[in-house]
Amino acid sequence: MSELFSRRTALAGGIGLASGMGLLASETLARAAGYQEDQNVHAPGGPVARSLAASVGKGAEYSLPPLPYAFDALEPSIDAETMRLHHDKHHAAYVKGANEALAKLADTREGKLDPSALSELTEKLTFNLSGHLLHSVFWAIMGTGGREPVGELAADIQQQFGSHAKFKAQFSAVATQVQGNGWGVLAYEPISERLIVLQARNHQLNVAWNAIPLLVIDVWEHAYYLKYKNVRPDYVKAFWSVVNWGAVNQWYGLIKRTHQDPAHEEHGH
Ligand SMILES: [Fe+2]
Repeated sequence: MSELFSRRTALAGGIGLASGMGLLASETLARAAGYQEDQNVHAPGGPVARSLAASVGKGAEYSLPPLPYAFDALEPSIDAETMRLHHDKHHAAYVKGANEALAKLADTREGKLDPSALSELTEKLTFNLSGHLLHSVFWAIMGTGGREPVGELAADIQQQFGSHAKFKAQFSAVATQVQGNGWGVLAYEPISERLIVLQARNHQLNVAWNAIPLLVIDVWEHAYYLKYKNVRPDYVKAFWSVVNWGAVNQWYGLIKRTHQDPAHEEHGH
């Protein structure tokens, strides 16, 4: 399988990260972003870049990024128990699953496992890695902050969707209409420099190659069932009150400039 997205030098300081679903920043980025101690929201890329930097750990194994706020920070929209289970159990399981898949793929290459399992292992990697990265973005685009789009993203949404209200209506409907488990996703499509709304089934199905998640909502039942039971529309409505638009805009700014500025391109692909 080829890389979904190219690796680029994203920040002025020469910090490398791969964009899109393959957003795997190095430990260097984690350290430079000061994920653990620096909550400076003005850092390039902001909370999303920091969360993704922390989504890979020592030895390039995937790791669970810390929730950037308390479990009860999103109350009453999203309850603390849901957040705790979602982050500590569900997200952690995707991290574990992705690492297990990689280890078994390596064992298969070494002849220790039957190659007939390659298809299953590859799907296990795709599912768990996609789940891991989407959750890493999801935590970071929520929290405190403005309640309406801000900055460059606000202007581009206005221009490309007609209005913030039209965008929100489309995104909400797409998320609500996911059959079974999945995600609503606002993504940046770098070839056309366009914002698009996608609907992922599970974590990895029905997605567009090269589209980079900016704003995501998890509509798996584990994301809302304790509080909202089967009433997903109420959860989607409540989600808007906890979106940290400043974080989304910071992430958008980094992604957009990374893809538009040829000086940021790296060679080797
Ligand atoms: Fe989830």
